[in-house]
Amino acid sequence: MSGRGRLVPCVCLGLFGVLCWVWVSFASFPDDQLSLEDVDRGAFLPQSALSEMEFASISSYRGPGNTDHRSNKELPIILWWSGGLFPHFPGNTERIDCATSSCLVTKNRKVQLYKRTTSIIFYGTDFRAYEAPLPRLHHQTWALFHEESPMNNYILSHSPGIRLFNYTATFRRESDYPLTLQWLPSLEYLLEPSAVSLQEKNRLRREGLAPVLYMQSHCDVPSDRDRYIVELMKYIEVDSYGKCLNNKPLPGHLEDTSTATGEEPRFMNFVARYKFHLALENGLCPDYMTEKLWRPLHQGCVPVYRGSSVVTDWMPNDHSAVIIDNFPSPKALADFLKHLDENDDKYAKYLEFKNPRHVTNMRLLEALETREWGVNDMSKPNYLNGFECYVCDQENARLATERAYRKAPKKNKPPQPKMADNLHMGCPLPSPGYGDVQDLPANDGWLQTWPQDYWQSLDQAQGLESLIRHNESDPSLLWKHIQNMAVSRARGKH
Ligand SMILES: *[C@@H]1O[C@H](CO)[C@@H](O)[C@H](O)[C@H]1NC(C)=O
Ligand SMILES: *[C@@H]1O[C@H](CO)[C@@H](O)[C@H](O)[C@H]1NC(C)=O
Repeated sequence: MSGRGRLVPCVCLGLFGVLCWVWVSFASFPDDQLSLEDVDRGAFLPQSALSEMEFASISSYRGPGNTDHRSNKELPIILWWSGGLFPHFPGNTERIDCATSSCLVTKNRKVQLYKRTTSIIFYGTDFRAYEAPLPRLHHQTWALFHEESPMNNYILSHSPGIRLFNYTATFRRESDYPLTLQWLPSLEYLLEPSAVSLQEKNRLRREGLAPVLYMQSHCDVPSDRDRYIVELMKYIEVDSYGKCLNNKPLPGHLEDTSTATGEEPRFMNFVARYKFHLALENGLCPDYMTEKLWRPLHQGCVPVYRGSSVVTDWMPNDHSAVIIDNFPSPKALADFLKHLDENDDKYAKYLEFKNPRHVTNMRLLEALETREWGVNDMSKPNYLNGFECYVCDQENARLATERAYRKAPKKNKPPQPKMADNLHMGCPLPSPGYGDVQDLPANDGWLQTWPQDYWQSLDQAQGLESLIRHNESDPSLLWKHIQNMAVSRARGKH
C-alpha cells in the first residue's frame, strides 16, 4: 500500500487559526503542476450500478506479481478524461499498484499533453467528439469505459468511433475487459428462493391480479418497447405502474420507492407477486443486459425479455426466460404466457434453476467464478479500478516492449498496434418495437429521434477521425470537418 495518501495535521491560517487536518497525497505531481482548480464538468451521476459503488476503501491493490519499485515520478500517467468517474477519493491523483506494474492515475486534465501521459480513459456516456483531447498524440492510447446503454452514445456503435480506442471495457464479452454480467452480483443472487410461492401467485391471480407486470418510466427509447407492449396488451392483461403506458396507480406507500435503483424491500415484494415481468431493455445490443433481466430471476418471476439478441448464452439454463423475439407476434406471445399461467407444471419449470442442480450453463458459472471484479463486494476491486489496472499493466508492457525494441531493433520486435473494433460495442440501427419502419407515419416521434441520432453519430465518429488524421488541436472544428465530408460525398468522392 505504498504511495497512498494520508492525513497529516496542519495549522489553518483561516479566520480562527484552528488546528485542522488536510489530506496529503504522496502520489502527487510537483506542486506547480497540480495546484489547479478542479476541471470537472460538474456533478455527474450516471444511472447505473456505478452509482451504488464504494470507491474509497479499495482504490489500489498490489498484486503478488508486482515488483515495480519505481518512484511516482517515473511512472506512466493515466488520465481519466471523465473526471466525474475518477475512482479514487479524495484527491485528484493516486498511485495504483496493479497485478504486474504501477502507474499514476489522475483526473487533472493539465497532464493531457505530457510525454509521461501514456493513456487517457473515457467514459462512453460522457464522450463527446467536439470535446475530445486533441491533438491526439502518437504515443498516447485511448481507453473506453462504457457499461451503460448503447442509447447513451451511438458514436461508439460505429466502426470509425470504436476504432479510436485501443482498450475497452464494455458490456460485450468481446471487449478487452468485459462487464457483461455487471448487473448480476453473484450466483447466490440468482438462487435466492422465490419471494412469492406459485400457490400465492395463483391466489392473487384469482383475486384479479394481472399475470404480467410492466413498470417503466423511461418511455421514448430506441428499443421502442412501448410500441410492442401496446400490441401485447390487446391480448393479455398487463398491470403497468410506471409513467409508460400507465394503467394502474402505484400504492401510495410505494410511490417514492419505485424509481429507486436499489432493491427497496417493500417495492420488491410488490413486484414479486407477478408471474411475469416485461423486461425490455431501452436499447438493443448483443450482451447488453441489465437489472431488468436479473431482478425478476432473483425474485422468482419469469422475465419476458427483449434486449441482447444472445441473452440465452447467459441464462442459468435453456428454460428460465421467455424471449420475445422467439414469437412471431404479440398475440402468439400472449397465448404462450396464458398457457404457462394456466399450467403450473410448465410455469414452475421456468423456475427450476432455483435448484443449483438445474443451473447448467457453464459459460455463466465460469464467468461468475473467474471475473476479477465484484459488485458491491469489498473483497474484490470494482470494475473501474479493475479497468484502470488493466490499462496500466497493458501500457507498462507496451512501453517495455518499445524500450527493448529501441535498444536492440534487430533482436526485438516493435509492439503490435492494438485497437478496438465493432465487436467491442457495435449496436445495430434502432428499429421499431413493432411493425416495419416504412409503415410509420413521418411525424412519428421515435422515427424522428433514434434513427437520426444513430446516423448523426456516424457523422461525428467520421468527423473526429478526420480531425485526428489532420492533427487538429481544436475539437470544435468537428462541425467543419463533418460539413467538408458531406460536400465531398455529394461530389461523389470519399
Ligand atoms: C491506438 O489506436 C489508434 C487509433 O486507432 C492507432 O492509430 C494506434 O496505433 C493505436 N496505438 C497502439 C499503441 O496500439
Ligand atoms: C501535431 O500537432 C502538434 C501541435 O499541435 C505538433 O506538436 C505535432 O508535431 C504535430 N504532429 C504532426 C505529425 O504533424
